[in-house]
Amino acid sequence: MTKLTSMAESSKGCELCPLAKQGRTQVVFGDGNIDADIVFVGEGPGFYEDKQGKPFVGAAGKLLTQLLESIGLKREDVYITNVVKCRPPQNRDPKPEEIEVCTNEYLFTQIKEIKPKVIATLGRFASAVILGLKDVSMGRVHGQKFKKDSYFVVPIYHPAAALHSRANLEPLAEDFKKLKEYLEEKPEVMRGPEAEQMGLF
Ligand code: URA
Repeated sequence: MTKLTSMAESSKGCELCPLAKQGRTQVVFGDGNIDADIVFVGEGPGFYEDKQGKPFVGAAGKLLTQLLESIGLKREDVYITNVVKCRPPQNRDPKPEEIEVCTNEYLFTQIKEIKPKVIATLGRFASAVILGLKDVSMGRVHGQKFKKDSYFVVPIYHPAAALHSRANLEPLAEDFKKLKEYLEEKPEVMRGPEAEQMGLF
């Protein structure tokens, strides 16, 4: 059993934060390929995710699947998870204390175990958490890659934003094309002092 499988198993009865007692059906740990080059991090499970126990299975998830397919990826090729693993009531924003407990207990270990090349953060919450910032402006950072530890963080708009306003769909689709480019880059050819100066390593 891998560390992630046993962690997923032991997370099932998690009561570390108040979300445990606020109407969740189950913990939604994460899903996909634990050897993936890319991990997608969303905000938190919604209604359908809470019922099915899998991340991104509702309307935003369907769009995420289509966007993955647009760059030649299947859901089984990637790993998908969320900042918080339990559904916040009425899909409210996760609170700072919930984010802190849940990421320290689960998300950061998931990333360490999977060791992806790229982490695509979906929306403001995930982007701020993974970049270690208080807040980020998605309009300013989306589609760019930021070197963090051994991986690149690429903030992209949350698919739900494109469901709310179709105007957000094009930038999201463009960001997926960039994700594909970043995944195909061969960092070893760039190794050297110049690459270091450019913040690539
Ligand atoms: N939105 C998220 O942020 N995560 C999900 O799993 C589903 C919708």
